[in-house]
Amino acid sequence: MTEETNTAQTGIHPRPVVGRLPKYAAGKPPSAIAGLESFKLSSNENPLGPVPAVLAVLAGTLEVHRYPDTSCTQLRNALGTFLDVPAEDVVTGAGSLGALNQILAAFAGQNDDGLPDEVVYAWRSFEAYPICVGLAGAKSVQVPVLHDGTHDLAAMAAAITERTTVVLLCTPNNPTGPVLRTAETEEFIRSVRSDVVIVIDEAYQEFVREPEAVDGIAMYRKYPNVVVLRTFSKAHGLAGLRVGYSVSGAQVTPYLRAAATPFAVSGVAEQAAIASLENYDQVVERVQSLVDERDRVTAGLRALGWQVPDAQGNFVWLDLGADSAEFSALADARGLSVRAFGTDGVRVSIGEVAANTRFLEICAAYTKAPRAS
Ligand SMILES: Cc1ncc(COP(=O)(O)O)c(C=O)c1O
Repeated sequence: MTEETNTAQTGIHPRPVVGRLPKYAAGKPPSAIAGLESFKLSSNENPLGPVPAVLAVLAGTLEVHRYPDTSCTQLRNALGTFLDVPAEDVVTGAGSLGALNQILAAFAGQNDDGLPDEVVYAWRSFEAYPICVGLAGAKSVQVPVLHDGTHDLAAMAAAITERTTVVLLCTPNNPTGPVLRTAETEEFIRSVRSDVVIVIDEAYQEFVREPEAVDGIAMYRKYPNVVVLRTFSKAHGLAGLRVGYSVSGAQVTPYLRAAATPFAVSGVAEQAAIASLENYDQVVERVQSLVDERDRVTAGLRALGWQVPDAQGNFVWLDLGADSAEFSALADARGLSVRAFGTDGVRVSIGEVAANTRFLEICAAYTKAPRAS
């Protein structure tokens, strides 16, 4: 039943914003191609999966009939030690997306005067941002990224008005790849009113090798309006368990806790995340092998003459414009699902070695590579 038919027949209709939300297009699984192994490179997942200690936790999980500890005390304590921050500064969520929704629920929405708060963020960036902001009742203010895929921080600062309550910084930026640098980020934070909450989304932080990249935790230590978002979905390979968190100071955290969804993180996800932290050396090894692959892929693309932005996450961005859908279909026909974003470009996750090699072969045969203009 379409929304119109439903409303006509029943009178039931959602808040107007629901009809205006962009649809979240989750990464598709690859098509099955006879005689060819297929690979999913469309959701920035970790193809290596979690460390063995996590699998042992999952195998030994018995108490699923009990509700979890709603404040995730054990995991917050483990993260407090791991990050050297007070455990009370950590608020967990169902993925970092859940943690982001808690931040928006607390700080951005429609006000008593009927007007929405404004949330400023770069675009293109993480596809879920406009959905989360819209559902919170706030207004998205999207500031185009620069041609090299970096945030235009000067334009973002200029886009802030008296109605702005939250800014989202995504580093490395999904889907374009580059990081924010420390000096420019600090300059930006200092230029913004201190009552604006600045979220630094570091979903891919473990993959960053750029020495000048900003460290969100260092910013949180210095600036009380900074909130850092991190996740176990990417480096730790726990995307399917849904566990992430925010780190913020005493001026912010109590409101996040008030807005938090009760029981958002399951007990098994909490224990798995702790096991992964306890075996972080193995996580680092896996991440390094993906970073090596990412660097092989970017070097391979550049050797083919492709212009690609700096890739600091577990994905590369192909600025294919109007050819995006065509390229994505070609990759799919060769057993690789990649992610086309309208007529902007294509994001390709770093996957298994064979998948990355096949991706490079497809690029070598493709004649419409993005090149320096
Ligand atoms: C930039 C960014 N932030 C947050 C998320 C959400 O991740 P999760 O909710 O799995 O922690 C993603 C997932 O792709 C992402 O790319």
